[in-house]
Amino acid sequence: MGKREFNGVVLMMLCLWVCGVTASVTYDHKAIVVDGKRRILISGSIHYPRSTPQMWPDLIQKAKDGGLDVIQTYVFWNGHEPSPGQYYFEDRFDLVKFVKLAQQAGLYVHLRIGPYICAEWNLGGFPVWLKYVPGIAFRTDNEPFKAAMQKFTAKIVSLMKENRLFQSQGGPIILSQIENEYGPVEWEIGAPGKAYTKWAAQMAVGLDTGVPWVMCKQEDAPDPVIDTCNGFYCENFKPNKNTKPKMWTENWTGWYTDFGGAVPRRPAEDLAFSVARFIQNGGSFVNYYMYHGGTNFGRTSGGLFIATSYDYDAPLDEYGLENEPKYEHLRALHKAIKQSEPALVATDPKVQSLGYNLEAHVFSAPGACAAFIANYDTKSYAKAKFGNGQYDLPPWSISILPDCKTVVYNTAKVGYGWLKKMTPVNSAFAWQSYNEEPASSSQADSIAAYALWEQVNVTRDSSDYLWYMTDVNVNANEGFLKNGQSPLLTVMSAGHVLHVFINGQLAGTVWGGLGNPKLTFSDNVKLRAGNNKLSLLSVAVGLPNVGVHFETWNAGVLGPVTLKGLNEGTRDLSRQKWSYKVGLKGESLSLHTESGSSSVEWIQGSLVAKKQPLTWYKVRK
Ligand SMILES: *[C@@H]1O[C@H](CO)[C@@H](O)[C@H](O)[C@H]1NC(C)=O
Ligand SMILES: *[C@@H]1O[C@H](CO)[C@@H](O)[C@H](O)[C@H]1NC(C)=O
Repeated sequence: MGKREFNGVVLMMLCLWVCGVTASVTYDHKAIVVDGKRRILISGSIHYPRSTPQMWPDLIQKAKDGGLDVIQTYVFWNGHEPSPGQYYFEDRFDLVKFVKLAQQAGLYVHLRIGPYICAEWNLGGFPVWLKYVPGIAFRTDNEPFKAAMQKFTAKIVSLMKENRLFQSQGGPIILSQIENEYGPVEWEIGAPGKAYTKWAAQMAVGLDTGVPWVMCKQEDAPDPVIDTCNGFYCENFKPNKNTKPKMWTENWTGWYTDFGGAVPRRPAEDLAFSVARFIQNGGSFVNYYMYHGGTNFGRTSGGLFIATSYDYDAPLDEYGLENEPKYEHLRALHKAIKQSEPALVATDPKVQSLGYNLEAHVFSAPGACAAFIANYDTKSYAKAKFGNGQYDLPPWSISILPDCKTVVYNTAKVGYGWLKKMTPVNSAFAWQSYNEEPASSSQADSIAAYALWEQVNVTRDSSDYLWYMTDVNVNANEGFLKNGQSPLLTVMSAGHVLHVFINGQLAGTVWGGLGNPKLTFSDNVKLRAGNNKLSLLSVAVGLPNVGVHFETWNAGVLGPVTLKGLNEGTRDLSRQKWSYKVGLKGESLSLHTESGSSSVEWIQGSLVAKKQPLTWYKVRK
């Protein structure tokens, strides 16, 4: 991809005079410069809606104690603008409060506005209504999309300005981000993508925040926007200009959890190694994605099939407890890096080979010297001579010498190996259950049409659930009725989960997967002479959050739906009359609330339903 340039620098300088904002955060090829000082910044992602406001002060304090300088968060558009022009900044979405808490703890903030954020978050952070703006196409050179993106970005910037939260106003925000990992999409869609990148950068810079903007995974980020690296390793990353610092905006501490899956683990040693390697290679900003992963509350997880837990094997676990030994091991690493900071920001490293797979990176400046000694061999211990000393190096490790003599830290030596002790809850939970009836076409409040409709088009994502209901009339003379056979019902669905009910009985359940959400139900079903009620309960498990034009992905029963084995041959049910009902009865009764839950009779004790569809469970502790 060619590097693009535009007059953003000119624009920014103009604004300095016209808008009267003093840019107190700048950058050069070494580092982000805050108040005239180059900084090595250790950052960690904590997403405010993935924990409760009650947890925030503790999480932020633990982040500070763990050696962080910066809290990084996305801004979650669909939480803030649930319907067009109706904004929400309360409770878990109280962004201003979150940023102020970071400030009170003495930390900086990296605000990733996006507003596309990916983040395993429903629709990548976009509100569902955005999908239905006439003529819209997401994340490309499309006027309705750009107008909506600009409006929301400007809204957030002005909210931050009103509260004096940019560093240029004395606040904690030292960096912002526009778009998110757009490079691969641009590469795929070409010219409109390039035009959009240029527009997005220009629009963001024009908002005049007085602090730099970054674009991550975006090789052609136009000046003055800084292109940054995301990944498990970033040591060989180079920004597109040597006037920009080498920044790692997402260092993956682990990985997210699939529905029903285990939490993927990344060893603390490997994580520490990658950070030390990035810093020794001249990196000056590292962000842990995630530092606290937290929880996908409610129906916020996207994906598809992303679990409610977003633990991420992060240094702070889902509940905000230190995840050891990762938390302590990284804390010690940050301390060693901080001890080396005067040398790290003063000069570029000189690389010295100390033997096969052995290297020293030396930052030597008047009055300061720091060295990183690396053993890249993944299996063998090594001894290396450096200066007047002799150093033992475990495999795949880096030793940090903040004075070029004394090792204060080695990435492979974890000295704090305690294990989490889990205590089972002994007193048995007294579960209660409530079974709701499958919906059927005779229900009055349903919408009807002679077509199969796309699911989100009908639900507008107000529920995960949509009932597709129709009548199947069977003549008493049908051959299969006489010889005791069952016809074959086939239902094709765009996903993600389907429960098939016939005359109120479950006939089967099918589901797709993250890679391919499409599914087909195909089974012989029991029908009786006369009218049969076919009710298909389609479930969308989070809306897609990534991929080129993910807004065009469908969900639900799009057909065909056919019945084979009748006298007439194959009957196509797709074009007959279908009724629709959005959501479950338990949802409309708000069974999850105190008052809603008392509106139905719950079953207790040995009668509690097991493995039955449409069962609600509750327990009190
Ligand atoms: C990034 O994180 C991974 C694991 O989370 C770690 O292995 C890697 O060393 C880190 N890289 C840097 C440069 O910090
Ligand atoms: C979406 O719903 C409308 C009715 O609200 C319907 O006319 C249209 O055909 C539906 N489109 C799809 C793709 O299902």
